[in-house]
Amino acid sequence: MALRIDILTIFPRMLDGVLGESILKRAQQAGLVDFRCINLRDYATGAHLTVDDRPYGGGPGMVMKPEPVFKAVEDLRGPDTQVLLMTPQGATFKQATAQRLAAETHLLIICGHYEGVDERIREALVDLEISIGDYVLTNGVIAAAVVADAVVRLLPGALGGEGATDDESFTTGLLEYPQYTRPPVFRGMAVPDILTNGNHGEIARWRQKQAQARTRVRRPDLLDNPPGQSGPPPAN
Ligand code: ADE
Repeated sequence: MALRIDILTIFPRMLDGVLGESILKRAQQAGLVDFRCINLRDYATGAHLTVDDRPYGGGPGMVMKPEPVFKAVEDLRGPDTQVLLMTPQGATFKQATAQRLAAETHLLIICGHYEGVDERIREALVDLEISIGDYVLTNGVIAAAVVADAVVRLLPGALGGEGATDDESFTTGLLEYPQYTRPPVFRGMAVPDILTNGNHGEIARWRQKQAQARTRVRRPDLLDNPPGQSGPPPAN
């Protein structure tokens, strides 16, 4: 059965390009994933279809109102839905999170906007709050596209060659070893001999050493925190 991914946003057209190209498009055509981009405004009421309002207590910016989000989530969710909220306050998105979400049947992703969302949305509706990193985006829809991409490429069959995700960075806990393709010498820079001598055992050992050395220099934190064991626990 296809993984259903609903993305609730006031900017659904921002997703057209991302979902309409490359592997995400093929996964959809192959029936591995069923994307639905839902316009939050379709659940708003009143003459102006308002989805946000000024914060109680004052301060800058606007806050997403609870009514349209509650209406949308109550309409869209089923018994097995995981409701996600994209927010810089969430747990940092990791490969282990992507793996866990790829095993679900229905993800409903709420994209936060403006200065934030009414706290009652968080408290009553959301299973997991996700941040894609320590920076603030203009809206959560870009972050939702990142999560959707990382999850869908893990669905069996999405990448063509099965196992293509098994030895990549963050799955093994190490950064990937250096890769080369033809030509053997390019502008005086040669491919390491070991990769062209056909000894698969030696190549595997070389790659493992390179991955370890690269990780030690660039991301020593990964050696201390193997995948799936770092970051705060999920909300709720
Ligand atoms: N919305 C704004 N910034 C974000 C971030 N870093 N991660 C997820 N959602 C966001």
